[in-house]
Amino acid sequence: MTIFDKIRRTLQELGVSDAQGVESLFAELRKAAEHERAELVAGGAPQQAERDGLCKALRDRWLARKGGFLSQVDENWLKPASKELKPVVGKQFNKLRRFTASLEFEKLVEALPFQQETAPQMELPLGSGAGRPVPRDLTLPGLRRPLGSIHPVTRMQREIEDIFLRLGFWIESGPEIESTYYNFDALNIPESHPSRDDWDTLYIDSKTVLRTHTSPVQIRAMEKYGAPLYIIIPGKCYRHDNPDSTHSPMFHQIEGLAIDEDITFADLKGTLDFFAKMLFGEKVRTRFQPSFFPFTEPSGEVAVSCFVCDGQGCRVCKESGWIELMGCGMVHPQVLRNGGIDPEKYSGWAFGLGVDRFAMVKYDINDIQLFFQGDVRFLEQF
Ligand code: PHE
Repeated sequence: MTIFDKIRRTLQELGVSDAQGVESLFAELRKAAEHERAELVAGGAPQQAERDGLCKALRDRWLARKGGFLSQVDENWLKPASKELKPVVGKQFNKLRRFTASLEFEKLVEALPFQQETAPQMELPLGSGAGRPVPRDLTLPGLRRPLGSIHPVTRMQREIEDIFLRLGFWIESGPEIESTYYNFDALNIPESHPSRDDWDTLYIDSKTVLRTHTSPVQIRAMEKYGAPLYIIIPGKCYRHDNPDSTHSPMFHQIEGLAIDEDITFADLKGTLDFFAKMLFGEKVRTRFQPSFFPFTEPSGEVAVSCFVCDGQGCRVCKESGWIELMGCGMVHPQVLRNGGIDPEKYSGWAFGLGVDRFAMVKYDINDIQLFFQGDVRFLEQF
């Protein structure tokens, strides 16, 4: 039975009935207090916050009014002691009180060796941390904390960002909870316009939505910075889609926007062709096909020749030889005006791409749901 078991029993239960027995019990307890203090000082503590915590824990362990060792001694040894023993127990108890006070548990903070905040903490011996001070078995194996890795969607996003950062673009962001004004109206999609139905919108109230694309940040950035403007806008978007292998109600886009004097469709083609070659390899070719978006005119869809089969047709490009990359176009003059930019002086191009889709193509993943299920067996492959 340890001394800590003994303080949970009465002297009678312990069979202690004379002064000598009482004194040796208290001596044992004083030794334990001294030992725990020495343990803590020897162990040090890796960080200042933890150091303070350990000292406080030691103090509470002994001196807490409720459940501290001293209060247990009071409850179990002193109060129920027999008339004959009470004076001895009382005297010993006072001695113990003075002794533990002299150990100055709270002030140990200063005495503890202080290790650098940056000290590697990969392998903390078991028994360190919150439960200290306890006797530590240094022969136990270390606690190895598994290293995480960058999520494939984040990795893809950063790769795309890096290419545009090299071209002089900077990164801008905007809110995921967006007004219908920025998400639709300012982008030339009036309420009555049937193309609003192209975006399966999740409404918060009649004037607030979860943004269905990153395009609203085009307007926010124009208002904030004016022209010239070269930005990309990565972020989460939301649509009322049932989850399946290619759809997720939450997904990621990157928007690109370049506004300056004399920006033409040739700049758009040149930039996106360069981008595709940087990302998929020098060999790929880009294809622009006409399309429609209310906020660009003209609008296009960009595809890249399959980087796996070089356009021959394979599983990745679904036998078509081409991989659809993004929507793009020249910023509609009305959209420039809505952002406070004079379309007589400035012109611009924009694109929007799905980061999840890019990551699926690049890493040959056939189910978008895998990105969001948090299954380490999937994630640790990256
Ligand atoms: N916002 C469009 C979408 O989500 C993509 C796009 C962005 C198209 C910019 C053209 C220009 O479908």
